[in-house]
Amino acid sequence: MAAAGALPCPEAGADAFHVRGGELWCEEVPLASLAARFGTPLHVYSAATMDERLARVQLAFGTGANVCYAVKANPNLSLLARMHARGAGFDLVSGGELHRLAAANVPASRSVFAGVGKEPWEIEAAVAAGLLFFNVESPHEVPLLAAAAARHGSRIRVALRLNPDVAAGGHSYISTARKGDKFGVAIDVAAPIVESIVREPSLHLCGYHVHLGSQVLRPEPYGEALAKVAAFVDGAALRREGVTHYDLGGGFGIGYGRGHALDVDAVARSVLPTLRSRGWTPVVEPGRYLVGDAGVLLTTVLGEKRQGGTDFVLVDAAMNDLLRPALYQAEHPIVAVRPRDGARREVDVVGPICETSDFLGRRRALPPCRAGDLLAVLSAGAYGASMASNYNTRRRAAEVLVDGGAVRLVRRRETFPQLFANEVHLDDESDGTVR
Ligand SMILES: Cc1ncc(COP(=O)(O)O)c(C=O)c1O
Repeated sequence: MAAAGALPCPEAGADAFHVRGGELWCEEVPLASLAARFGTPLHVYSAATMDERLARVQLAFGTGANVCYAVKANPNLSLLARMHARGAGFDLVSGGELHRLAAANVPASRSVFAGVGKEPWEIEAAVAAGLLFFNVESPHEVPLLAAAAARHGSRIRVALRLNPDVAAGGHSYISTARKGDKFGVAIDVAAPIVESIVREPSLHLCGYHVHLGSQVLRPEPYGEALAKVAAFVDGAALRREGVTHYDLGGGFGIGYGRGHALDVDAVARSVLPTLRSRGWTPVVEPGRYLVGDAGVLLTTVLGEKRQGGTDFVLVDAAMNDLLRPALYQAEHPIVAVRPRDGARREVDVVGPICETSDFLGRRRALPPCRAGDLLAVLSAGAYGASMASNYNTRRRAAEVLVDGGAVRLVRRRETFPQLFANEVHLDDESDGTVR
């Protein structure tokens, strides 16, 4: 609910980020006050936006559905605990993410575990965790999983991840369900893998999983993939006996200031009739949709220069804080937190890292900026902090959660001693590997 005098920030995908008194706010907090208190670069998240997105997905798919937040999008422990409290399970893709659930004090019973290559210890950990189900992605996992389940004395629920050969994602690097992609099992070779699962007494084939890719903006591919899976399942009785779940994956796209988010209700309308007729419970794995528009990356202008016909605005955030522009040519809207008067001009907003690909935005129309001004990179809540690195020996940024007028630091800025803690001096003989 916007406060009196609040104006929308049209580039932001969420009302929580709005303009009051000529400056950008997050919920009931001016962003400049957060930069002053915690420094920059700083990831800021709006709790209300995450809650609203989660509720929207829960409503679209109905109370029986399992909404499994894709932890990789933003794995901060406080966000996981908050999602859990609001009914979410989790989509996990590594043993590390299982450890995160434990660290967040969240049970794994509403969670699923996928991953294109799982290490033996991850399979053991997943079996011990008591998941909703385990997603098999390759034939070699079946005997490993069966043996781990037998050792554990349990019968494990398994969903087979199918690759339906549907092109749906945004950038080619985030499309995962085309014939040549490494994920899942192609439908034309899936029959013997289903048989191998069904033969194992310690495994129970409880469903099928498809993940189309990320940043999907049309609902149709979800229906298309389900139709292909249903046709496969109808090919033999053993492919459907005991099946209770269909996991349609994540990939729900957002607008990034230029367009509309995926119509999640339309996705639900396209799959629910088929799922209901078969008695299959829907599972969805949204990541970006729940947290992307809920986050901004705040950065301070360090200086400006003009060369080669380009105006550069140099800022203190870099590709180590937000890799998406360098990795996928992703475009995040960038706005001034307190815009100055004056004509806008086209600039490249670049970070301090020694790579030409270290830019946050190119050819952006920004108002005049001076050193010390704050910029906000919008819709940066997904795959921002989550993909952060220490490249150029930069400390990973702090993260703050805003909930109405309350502000919580949910990750402290890294310190330099933390950065070097695991490195060993050559003259340190206390480590047995030296000689
Ligand atoms: C299996 C699986 N599920 C869900 C997701 C979440 O995708 P998104 O954040 O686009 O919703 C991913 C992303 O890579 C994934 O690999």
